[in-house]
Amino acid sequence: MKAIKTISSGLIILAMVVTSASCKHDIDPSDIPSPTPGDTVPSQVKCDPDTIYFLNEIKPLLNSGCAVSGCHDEATAEEGIILTDYNKIMITGKVRPGNADGTKIVKVLTESGEDRMPPSPRAAFTASQINKLKTWINQGALNNSCTEMNCDSTNVSFASKVWPIIESSCLGCHSGASPSGGIRLAGYSDIATVAATGQLLGVITDASGYSLMPPSGKLSDCQIGQIRNWIKNGTPNN
Ligand code: HEC
Repeated sequence: MKAIKTISSGLIILAMVVTSASCKHDIDPSDIPSPTPGDTVPSQVKCDPDTIYFLNEIKPLLNSGCAVSGCHDEATAEEGIILTDYNKIMITGKVRPGNADGTKIVKVLTESGEDRMPPSPRAAFTASQINKLKTWINQGALNNSCTEMNCDSTNVSFASKVWPIIESSCLGCHSGASPSGGIRLAGYSDIATVAATGQLLGVITDASGYSLMPPSGKLSDCQIGQIRNWIKNGTPNN
């Protein structure tokens, strides 16, 4: 009996491996542009407020919302889709530069029921997250990045500075019905609570006793400075 069980579970695993491998091959690589070499590292290009930059906004968004264990990280690669870095996002996510509405990873964000991504209990993307992804694709889905020159970390507004950072880099894991670590960061009061305990600054600065957040790597110095000053100013809801 035991031997039969072992053989049949082996076959199931084999079938799963074959199915997921076949998913990975039904993509036409000629559909995507080659990445611009040198653009993957943070660049010295000054951030243009009308442009959505891959490295600054889209990568953190897809990493926290989709490239998590059990979903579209390298190890799981559900349906052959891996949303960890630019090339894999472009190829396996079937991104159509200039055509957000024709792009698979955009369409699934607004599907209904079980087809919606990220699936329940994870929260749906917010309208503004969807908008950023669409804008980036419609602007050519470039492998671009920018630097905030003259980073303004004084008088930081929650709505215009703190929330967009959380929305790009944290919300994917810290929202929905079972947020990671039991920590919800879905709006002002959640975030003010985690700021008051010292955890928010602890995790983003990788202070001892805290886990570094986001786990994939530190926020920029500008972003950390903005959150630090917002906390220093008494976490205003401004
Ligand atoms: C890819 C998923 C993921 C992303 C993105 C992410 N977190 Fe977490 N976070 C976790 C997990 C998992 C835990 C629980 C395990 C742990 O503590 O390491 C956690 C724990 C925490 C904790 C409690 C841990 C402690 O040491 O007090 C805080 C606070 C937190 N995250 C804040 C953030 C903030 C702020 C961001 C964005 C800047 C963020 N997280 C981004 C997955 C994530």
